[in-house]
Amino acid sequence: MSDTRAHKKFRSQEWFDNPNNPGMTALYLERYQNQEYSREELQSERPVIGIAQTGSDIAPCNKIHVFLMDRIKAGIRDGGGIPMEFPVHPIQETGKRPTAALDRNLAYLSLVEVLHGYPIDGVVLTTGCDKTTPAMLMGAATVDLPAIALNGGPMLDGWWQGKRAGSGTIVWESRRLLAEGKIDYDEFISRVCASAPSLGHCNTMGTASTMNAMAEALGMSLTGNSAIPAPFRERMAMAYETGKRIVQMVYDDLKPSDILTREAFENAIVVNAAIGGSTNAPPHLQAVARHAGVDLDVKDWETIGFDVPLLVNMQPAGEYLGESFFRAGGVPAVMGELRKAGRIHDGAMTATGKTMGENLSGCGSEDTDVIKTYDAPMRRNAGFKVLSGNLFDSALMKTSVISADFQQRFLSEPGNEGVFEARAVVFEGPEDYHERINDPDLKIDEKCMLFIRNVGCVGYPGSAEVVNMQPPDALIRQGINHLPTVGDGRQSGTSESPSILNASPESVVGGGLAYLQTGDRVRLDLNASRMDALVDEAEWQARIDGWQPPEIVNQTPWQEIYRTHVGQLADGGCLELATAYQKVGRTLPRDNH
Ligand code: FES
Ligand code: MG
Repeated sequence: MSDTRAHKKFRSQEWFDNPNNPGMTALYLERYQNQEYSREELQSERPVIGIAQTGSDIAPCNKIHVFLMDRIKAGIRDGGGIPMEFPVHPIQETGKRPTAALDRNLAYLSLVEVLHGYPIDGVVLTTGCDKTTPAMLMGAATVDLPAIALNGGPMLDGWWQGKRAGSGTIVWESRRLLAEGKIDYDEFISRVCASAPSLGHCNTMGTASTMNAMAEALGMSLTGNSAIPAPFRERMAMAYETGKRIVQMVYDDLKPSDILTREAFENAIVVNAAIGGSTNAPPHLQAVARHAGVDLDVKDWETIGFDVPLLVNMQPAGEYLGESFFRAGGVPAVMGELRKAGRIHDGAMTATGKTMGENLSGCGSEDTDVIKTYDAPMRRNAGFKVLSGNLFDSALMKTSVISADFQQRFLSEPGNEGVFEARAVVFEGPEDYHERINDPDLKIDEKCMLFIRNVGCVGYPGSAEVVNMQPPDALIRQGINHLPTVGDGRQSGTSESPSILNASPESVVGGGLAYLQTGDRVRLDLNASRMDALVDEAEWQARIDGWQPPEIVNQTPWQEIYRTHVGQLADGGCLELATAYQKVGRTLPRDNH
């Protein structure tokens, strides 16, 4: 790409150097000059690079970005740009109640408003914790100014008594040990805290590592960005290089719309299956695609991704954690292996200014214990199943975490493999589940399927990670660690439970889950990608006719705004009205005085 430095007039010059409107120009200049900037540089025709800061004391997963900021700014300066850091509404997965998912769209909205309304020519998106990454990508897609993602990186590997202790994954394991009476409250907490030994985001292939892998697979970051652990020196270098690179992207006018193409999303779907990625990736990528104006459907996750093998041996689908994944080559190594098998669109443009194929030249696994080759994978057909039936139009099942025990117990009836018929036990939300799961009157045994409803985008609000429900303590003591679970909410990307989740439409808006009753027979058929309640049609219709939606109580103004405008998980859980606004960075807002 040619360097157009000599002739470019940047968007920020409309603020800082507009001789046709001296009054406004002076007003814009005087207050930015009273900090680190001079008139000379603000009028120097150098691009202003925003740095969207997602880290803070209240967002510890992304706190590393506070310490990376000097390196990002140094890179921007050395690249010839003017850095301007600004705060992003925090989205801390483990801190925000009722769920951080509620805030993804709020952070998205505020990012759009900042990028549109301030003198910014390009932006570094600091990413990390689960929803921070999609929120930043969604905003960049809507605005369509040059943008590049910089991950903060995973924590160092956690260890507990000589074994790897992975973020989140150790919580689910410890919950079972607690239920079995093998550990007490204090050991429970010590085990879980051992999984977080440094700054950084989750060190498992949970939603954070997944979404950063997605950003890289989409081409929205530098090659190799996503897997570098937060405290490593390579992370500092990546921050510097990312800062330097965004300046050139502005000079070259390389925008999200040049990168976020249908081919890029197909690459991301394939990579998600190969890494054993989170079930949160489909709604997040769906949201990014919709804001970018790219046609993507939830069913694409099965059509394009299901037959992709699992290559990455990382918790929750495997054994290792982030440090090993990085040393084995990270996302470029995974994509290199996929590319050799012809599964990557080489031509997709990326933030490096080169195509994905050029970026990946020579890349492949550097440790086949951690990143497998395509022909000798961890397992075959590791993508998502996208189910439908009378309980929902779509719901996801992550097949890469179906254990041999689960397969054997629930899906291996001779002559009927992949099919499971069960008695439904229905909970109205997580509070109801916790209150009643050990109630002997529910008669839960291994021929039951657990359902949870009212936990989707509108219902919760925000869609909660509560679908991976643990069986009653009595069953766990008999060695039954998982029952099939189904719900209109989500589950943590760190969970190894093969739940059926993200059911859309959700029950509170009248989706099929609303009409299910405890005691109904239900049938899961993975071969046909179907799940149905086996209820007589007239009876089912009578339930629909007699249905009253549950009362919705909003606790804050944002909850009400969110619930009024949010769509379903299958459609990305977007603020529906926002999807009509595209490439808004091409328009200039009016002067403010
Ligand atoms: Fe923030 Fe997992 S909780 S990355
Ligand atoms: Mg979570």
